[in-house]
Amino acid sequence: MNKVWTTKLIHTEARVPEGFRSLATPTYRGSTVLFDDAGAISDEWNQYEAGYTYGLYGTPTTLELAARICELEGGFRTLITPGGQCAVSTIHLAFLKAGDHILVPESIYGPNRKLTRFVLRRFGVETTFYPPGIGSEIRTLFTPNTRMVWCESPGSITMEVQDVPAIAAAAHAHGALVVMDNTWAAGVLFDALAHGVDITMQAVTKYIAGHSDVLLGAITVKDEKLWNTLGAHQQVLGAAASPDDCSLALRGMKTMAVRLKAIESSALHVAQWLSERQEVELVLHPALPSCPGHDLWKRDFLGSSGLFSIVLREGIAKEKVIAFVNALRLFETGYSWGGVASLAVAYDFTGFKGRPEYGHRIVRLHIGLENCDDLLADLEQAMEKLR
Ligand SMILES: Cc1ncc(COP(=O)(O)O)c(C=O)c1O
Repeated sequence: MNKVWTTKLIHTEARVPEGFRSLATPTYRGSTVLFDDAGAISDEWNQYEAGYTYGLYGTPTTLELAARICELEGGFRTLITPGGQCAVSTIHLAFLKAGDHILVPESIYGPNRKLTRFVLRRFGVETTFYPPGIGSEIRTLFTPNTRMVWCESPGSITMEVQDVPAIAAAAHAHGALVVMDNTWAAGVLFDALAHGVDITMQAVTKYIAGHSDVLLGAITVKDEKLWNTLGAHQQVLGAAASPDDCSLALRGMKTMAVRLKAIESSALHVAQWLSERQEVELVLHPALPSCPGHDLWKRDFLGSSGLFSIVLREGIAKEKVIAFVNALRLFETGYSWGGVASLAVAYDFTGFKGRPEYGHRIVRLHIGLENCDDLLADLEQAMEKLR
């Protein structure tokens, strides 16, 4: 067929050699997926069974990231979402219905809490917030319509480690699903599914991507039934992750073991150093005995990551806490964590029902890959502001 050049721009006969092999996963972009037979066109979301049908359900790049995370977490399948919070909302929307009741720890990631209070409530789902250290006593909170129990261990900012197996046993006895935000452990330092969790999610944004340049999430389910519900909902919710972002996460994943190891070691060193400072009342690092649930961390986790909090000595005014964080030169201030740069964020829990009474004295640190002695020197000079 003769073609005018404008047609050649779209339909080309140009060919390149085949057989390229590389260590990098190719980045497949695409919304439209081509079908050879008009009669065979299908919008089936489950591409593991139907073959590729539409970019929304994942290109080979997205599915490779999913499959690799699934392999690490030991699940049935993993769904990649455009961010960690999207993983959270997709779980809620896929598995809950009007009239359901859910149990969520007080220490849950803030936007997850907001979602339950401002969105799920509107759709007729009621939430009870429970103390993260509740353990098997959670059985007293179940009602006939309790459908789901969330765990996040350690908890956001206040770092309480939870007794996930005890909570899961109580939930299963009641017929409820157990969902876990396993972001702190990067999906690898705590084996969520082996500890009784049914659906685990993490913000891939943090340690897997690892360089603060991508927003992605992952939901891993333990069986096919959960996968069928999740996939069918992703199709209609329409949240597709970008293959370009997935390729960055695949690259980040390859160095995650060495990054995590270096970050773990520095974070422990910094946490230990802080625990000996008179300006610091409490170090909330799961590997230190001062952290609520430390024994559970020892029992259940394979290691620790780089995120922990400190509570400054009583009597230190809020302005001094802010001045301390502002005086840090290597620690930057900003949300998200898990990258190579150290971060510090001051929080104020004054009047916050259900959270420990740390008031304005709590500062969350994320330790990156800077030299540890430089980080200690930075903290030391900034602590002048606490005097
Ligand atoms: C524990 C936890 N879960 C989920 C998220 C949400 O991830 P994302 O920022 O990718 O939406 C975060 C982000 O800070 C987090 O800390």
